[in-house]
This record gives sequence, C-alpha cells and structure tokens, in this order.
Amino acid sequence: MQDSFIKAGVIGYPVKHSKSPLLHEHWITRHQKQGAYNAIEVPPEKLENMVQDLIDRGYAGFNITLPHKQTIMHLCTDIDDTARAVGAVNTVIIEDGRLYGRNTDVFGFLENIRAAHPDFAFTGIHALVLGAGGAARAVIYGLIDAGAKQITITNRTRAKADDIAASFADLAAQHDCRLSVLDWDDRDSGDAGAAPAETDLLVNTTSLGMTGKPSLSYDVNALPSSAMVCDIVYAPLYTDLLSDARARGLRITTGIGMLLHQAKPAFAAWFGVMPDVDDLLEQKILKA
Ligand SMILES: NC(=O)c1ccc[n+]([C@@H]2O[C@H](COP(=O)([O-])OP(=O)(O)OC[C@H]3O[C@@H](n4cnc5c(N)ncnc54)[C@H](OP(=O)(O)O)[C@@H]3O)[C@@H](O)[C@H]2O)c1
Repeated sequence: MQDSFIKAGVIGYPVKHSKSPLLHEHWITRHQKQGAYNAIEVPPEKLENMVQDLIDRGYAGFNITLPHKQTIMHLCTDIDDTARAVGAVNTVIIEDGRLYGRNTDVFGFLENIRAAHPDFAFTGIHALVLGAGGAARAVIYGLIDAGAKQITITNRTRAKADDIAASFADLAAQHDCRLSVLDWDDRDSGDAGAAPAETDLLVNTTSLGMTGKPSLSYDVNALPSSAMVCDIVYAPLYTDLLSDARARGLRITTGIGMLLHQAKPAFAAWFGVMPDVDDLLEQKILKA
C-alpha cells in the first residue's frame, strides 16, 4: 500500500553517477510534494528481491539505468508499446503490487527538440542517425512516430545498424517511412550517397564526443544549410559536432534537454504533477 509520503528512486549498478535524484528532488521541492527520490544500488543477482522490497515498502515506482533496462521487463505485468519497440524500460510505475514498464527516452528526445525549436516539424523530414546502440533505438522510434519520411542509420558496426533497420521495418512501413543504412565511412561524404546532402536533421547517438571518449569526426559541410544538428551527448554540453554546426550557422539542439524531459512523465505518474524544465534546473544538473 502507498502512503501519502511518495517514494520513488532509480535503480542501477552502479547508480551513484545518476543525476535523476537531483532532478526529481528539485521538482519535489518546487511542487511542495511530500516525498523522496533515492538512488538505489541493485546488483543484477538481487534485482527481483530488491524490486519486491520496493513494492513492499510502498514505492510509487522507479527509474531504471544500466544494467537493468532489459531484465526489468521480465518482472513487468505490462510494458507499453514504446518500451517494447525500443527494447528497454527506463521507468516503472507500481500499482497494486504490479509493475508497469514504460520508456520515456523517446518522449525526452522529441520534446527536447520541440522545446528548443518550436517551429521545427518532424513530419516529412529526412533524418540521419549516427549510432545504433540503445539510445539510437529510442531516437529512431521517435522519428518514425513523429512522421519522418526517411531515416538513414550509420554505425561503426554496420551489422547493428542493419539489425535496427530490420527490427523497425514493419513500423516504418506502417508510417510510410523509409529506413536505410549507410556505411560509417560515408557518414559525411556527399559523393557516396544522397543522405548527408539531403538531411533535415542529423542526430548523434554515439558516445563519441563525450568527455573521456574519442571525438566524433564529422564534416558538417556535408549537410545543407537548412539542417538541424542534435547531439544527445550532454557532457560537454557543446560537443565539437555542435560547435562546428553552430559555426557553420546551422540550428543545433544540445543533449541535456533529453535527459530532463524524459524524467517528466515519470514524475507526473508518481507525484501527480507534470513538471517543467527550465534554465535553473538545466544549470543545476549541468553543474552537478
Ligand atoms: N541525453 C540523454 O538523455 C541521453 C540518453 C541516452 C544516452 N545518451 C548518450 O548517448 C550515448 C550512447 O548511449 P547508448 O546507451 O546508445 O550507448 P551504447 O548502446 O553503448 O551505444 C554506443 C554507440 O556508440 C558507438 N561508438 C562507441 N565507440 C565508438 C567509436 N570509437 N567509433 C564509432 N562509434 C562508436 C557504438 O558503435 P558500435 O555499435 O560500433 O560499437 C554505438 O553505436 C552516450 O554518450 C550516452 O550518454 C544520452
């Protein structure tokens, strides 16, 4: 049974790095809610027992970070279409002792771009997605759902891009969206294919460019002057890709908003208020 003091948290292993407690505690204070949001370290072998403990302790739900985003699905009574298609649950709502699995990364990705560029329309666009990991699946699902007409995926390991394209083929066909795969070496070469030159939106979903990782080599001159460039890496906030795009006069979207916006539906489900993302929160999270 849940009491009036609302408990939520994030489970992971490790989990200390998570910015989610700071984010949700900010909104708990802002909305004067009686509640708490904790980081809970859950080793893989203890997942089932520790989740049962959260249920017994009356938790309203929890976020999930690595390495539990797939394994938690086995414990869920219900998984929504988005989480099923993306293949990962990052938010669980607990009701009557049952777990309801959701994926809010898709919402976070789309909402971030919409908030930064309210005039940007996804309908009919050509998107070029760099990367084919977990985050790419959420981005590609979001782009299909939002009405993209053509999505080109390119990844260092081409087989993973082929796998994603195959797994989203039916969904894309239902939405009249064409999926194709481009060799990683051709990602910014106008000669090798029409993809870069026709791109309305370029999204980096690789970990390249992140602090401590190798940099991403991408020639933004391959893109048309109308293109928007989005990097979901947010540390640093302005990656070399975004700095190059900005220097060329292209519109850009940083990655921090995806992290902030993806947390909103979870907070709303547990605490009953849809919170806002503002500059104060963004600065707080970036400084943490
Ligand atoms: N803003 C947000 O809210 C948000 C949300 C989720 C993720 N992210 C960020 O997105 C990034 C990817 O996350 P993920 O969960 O998708 O990770 P992931 O599943 O491990 O995928 C990593 C991706 O990066 C590529 N990559 C790694 N090293 C590379 C290299 N040296 N050269 C070329 N490609 C390389 C991988 O290519 P291969 O397949 O060839 O290995 C793969 O496509 C991370 O930086 C993460 O912090 C941000």
